[in-house]
Amino acid sequence: MISLPEYPDLQVCVLAAGQGKRMHSSQPKVLHKVLGRAMIDHVLHTVEELTPKAIAVVTGHASEQVRQHVGQPANLEWVIQDKQLGTGHAVKQCEDVIRNVRDVLIVCGDTPLLRSQTLSELVQAHRAGSASVTVLTAMVADPFGYGRIKRDDMGKVAAIVEEKDASDAERTICEVSSGIYCVRHEVLFDLLKSLGNSNAQGEYYLPDIVPLALAAGQYVDAVAMQDSSEMLGVNNRAQLSEVEDMMQARIIRDWQMKGVTIEKPQTVRIEATVNLGVDVVIQAGCYLIGSTRIGDGCRIGPYAVLVNAWLDDDVEVFAFSHIHDANVGAGSQIGPFGRLRPGAVLGEDVHVGNFVEIKNSVVNRGSKVNHLTYIGDTDMGSHCNIGAGTITCNYDGANKHRTRIGDDVFVGSDTKLIAPVEVQAGATIGAGSIITKTVVSGGLTLSARPDQRHVAGWQRPTKNKD
Ligand code: UD1
Ligand code: CA
Repeated sequence: MISLPEYPDLQVCVLAAGQGKRMHSSQPKVLHKVLGRAMIDHVLHTVEELTPKAIAVVTGHASEQVRQHVGQPANLEWVIQDKQLGTGHAVKQCEDVIRNVRDVLIVCGDTPLLRSQTLSELVQAHRAGSASVTVLTAMVADPFGYGRIKRDDMGKVAAIVEEKDASDAERTICEVSSGIYCVRHEVLFDLLKSLGNSNAQGEYYLPDIVPLALAAGQYVDAVAMQDSSEMLGVNNRAQLSEVEDMMQARIIRDWQMKGVTIEKPQTVRIEATVNLGVDVVIQAGCYLIGSTRIGDGCRIGPYAVLVNAWLDDDVEVFAFSHIHDANVGAGSQIGPFGRLRPGAVLGEDVHVGNFVEIKNSVVNRGSKVNHLTYIGDTDMGSHCNIGAGTITCNYDGANKHRTRIGDDVFVGSDTKLIAPVEVQAGATIGAGSIITKTVVSGGLTLSARPDQRHVAGWQRPTKNKD
């Protein structure tokens, strides 16, 4: 990562009070997730990288929900905007919390693709000139919905016109406002005092500080973004998925640059919260979700789903496996069609084969559970071999009970272990057993088997003619 300068004399304001009507959601817009992380968290993460003096977040709609979600970072102050009367009105609410800074950087809570590098360049450009207001702009192919940058005959920024207020001619302008501004603190609140709301939406528009500053004889500057996709705002769910696709492409590229091989990258989902080691191979169709962490040299794939899964180094996850809230030790193998449910903790070199489900259980080093088995609420030692079709019967219809299996146990195929029950270290259980009592170590334990009969002269039926 490029290291950025620190900005101890910069105040950030994040505008996040709107409901986001166009999302049609019971959730406030900024809590909608982009690749597993709420939009507000993406934006806060980005502005934190500038190490500003302080960050004010303006909330209004469902502010309690937003606050609870974010928590209380040390340099963050919450500002309430009771009625959402516009972006200018939102910034105005921050007046009392801003102290002793040169500039105020205003960003929106609904632009998760923004990069800190871009914000840093905006602040640098703002400070290099003598502007009191600097707006971050972009050239876009489809300017619909954005404020258009109006320039005078000299090419200087004259005003920003919102979509709903724009004339047909103005609507054809493809230079738009990102909604991001860097403003001298000493002028900002004077400008905001003069804002009016006689426009199509009856709102106090922040962009109107541009003509106000010009009228006061101040200099207004515009800085163009290099990559206009960074300013994409999320106003509806179509934009949410567009932004998510773009962020996904970015995240995939970042991991590729750090030593991860990703096959068919357009088919995988790797959330922003996931961590990958070097020499990891991700095959087609994988979903890596939440706090998933994958150690060096792991191979995941195809179509595996990992949700909050922690994998040590050199783990192989074969096709169509599902791992959720589970830990896997180094060198282990899962699947194909393996399922680890919450609380499964596997030691090193454990093999979990096809159609095996493991839940809330510890399986220690070198044990093998290779075929068609259910292990639930179990503590299993090391170097056990669990035969095909073994079932820990952990549930009596009301309560769950544990099964304890010592080291070096061999369980024959099609065995039922009726919990609570213990199998001592070194025990062997014969195939087809139903185990209800402690199995002692040594020797062979098996439950009675029905006799095997032979019917001499028996003929196979033949198929009827009609
Ligand atoms: C806004 C800008 C537009 C710019 C675009 C870039 C205004 C009037 N328009 O339009 O020039 O091109 O962003 O994405 O500024 N908010 C509040 N309180 C309010 C109103 C809004 O906190 O009273 C917050 C919203 O929660 C949102 C942000 O401000 O995070 C922007 O509001 P939104 O309604 O999305 O504005 P746009 O129509 O996208
Ligand atoms: Ca917006």
